[in-house]
Amino acid sequence: MVDVILGLQWGDEGKGKIVDYFAPKYDIIARFQGGPNAGHTLYVNGTKMVLHQIPSGIFHQDKINIIGNGVVLDPVTLKKECDAVAAMGVDVKKNLFISERTNIIIPSHRALDKASELAKGESKIGSTLKGIGPAYMDKTGRNALRVGDLLSKNFISKYITLRMKHQKILDSFNFNEDISEMETEFFEALEFLKSMNIINCEYFINDQISKGKKVLAEGAQGSMLDIDFGTFPFVTSSNTISAGVCTGLGIAPKLINEVFGITKAYCTRVGSGPFPTELHNEVGEELRKLGSEFGATTGRPRRCGWIDLVALKYTCMINGVTQIIMTKADILDTFKELELGIAYEMEGKEIDYVPFQLVGTPVAPIWKKMQGWNVDTTKMKSENELPATMKTYIDFINKFLGVPVKYVSNGPGRDQIVHV
Ligand code: GDP
Ligand code: IMO
Ligand code: MG
Repeated sequence: MVDVILGLQWGDEGKGKIVDYFAPKYDIIARFQGGPNAGHTLYVNGTKMVLHQIPSGIFHQDKINIIGNGVVLDPVTLKKECDAVAAMGVDVKKNLFISERTNIIIPSHRALDKASELAKGESKIGSTLKGIGPAYMDKTGRNALRVGDLLSKNFISKYITLRMKHQKILDSFNFNEDISEMETEFFEALEFLKSMNIINCEYFINDQISKGKKVLAEGAQGSMLDIDFGTFPFVTSSNTISAGVCTGLGIAPKLINEVFGITKAYCTRVGSGPFPTELHNEVGEELRKLGSEFGATTGRPRRCGWIDLVALKYTCMINGVTQIIMTKADILDTFKELELGIAYEMEGKEIDYVPFQLVGTPVAPIWKKMQGWNVDTTKMKSENELPATMKTYIDFINKFLGVPVKYVSNGPGRDQIVHV
């Protein structure tokens, strides 16, 4: 069976920590989409690690970690990350497997990302500039290079063809950047990639499942950044939702069992685009400060606001979420009063759904106020220690969403999580 952990908001919900926490219960941890735009933070014996390409189960040495076909892979990032992980005693040659169908990000994808954002000016997406959009465009445009191609004799000529195609587009943008150094690094990293375990993921994973092995699929980004259901065009370029697990790993829908949806106890977004419950005031500042809300990949300050239950109800529906994990609850410890977005006001009308167009049609949240708990929760270990006001907050969310919050994370550490 396959369980899924994914983000229900605009990313950075704490997926890395939660995957690392649950990994011991599984045999295989697999990334199914996204690329180095992701930044998944976890703490290993007190040391902070941020993973961009490698699944967050990598520090559990008896587990197999897979980079699936739905991922876009930057070989340079992969190599650097493998070196960092190896320095912590992990044998990546033994427990990291890469699908031969995984698409490769080449240096000119990153140049294209920059050129495209520059051309958009004020209406830029706020991309991480890791080449994600252009790489997925080459996948759907049927031009991409895949990991399995590395073993073919005409890889270089395929690379040159693609590179030339990109150059024409870069020229049309009037974009000039010398990427020759990046290319040198890229070709070095390809040699490293070739030395890794490259597998046929769909046969491998289905074979393992048929032998009774348990798979945990790790999402990147968040459901509101999904290419189809997010706040388009301010989204990423992959299906971040549970459906992406099937196409991103080659497994059938009937194999998916639990879908763990992660939400912060409040909400953040990095990059441009609609964010109905964003706070442009001192409360937003306070959330950013207390939550250290700065991007794990780009270091940009994250936009902060209260929890948005309209968006969460939508993402629970689209993902078929069976359990919710609420992270960063401790960040609310010092607030006397909390607010929750429970509906939107759009063009003078109250609505309880995520409309087709949030871009250009501003919605104002309708708030519910609740009392804060005002105690330090970071050392609490069990449900009966949690303050009654926190339980009331969680109960309200449970009822609103119709999906139970089963875990509350109360700090970044591996052991800071309470089962409720
Ligand atoms: P991801 O992309 O979903 O894996 O999340 P990020 O790693 O980008 O951002 C989450 C941040 O919150 C990281 O710095 C984590 O260490 C931290 N974090 C995760 N869970 C908690 C929690 O419950 N409390 C606090 N204070 N920090 C947390
Ligand atoms: P994790 O996995 C938060 C955002 C970018 C930008 C938009 C498109 O750590 O939760 P892209 O680089 O994909 O072209 O950027 O999506 N974005 C993320 N925001 N967390 C992420 O990943 C993100 N990955 C992309 O900021 O707004
Ligand atoms: Mg992140």
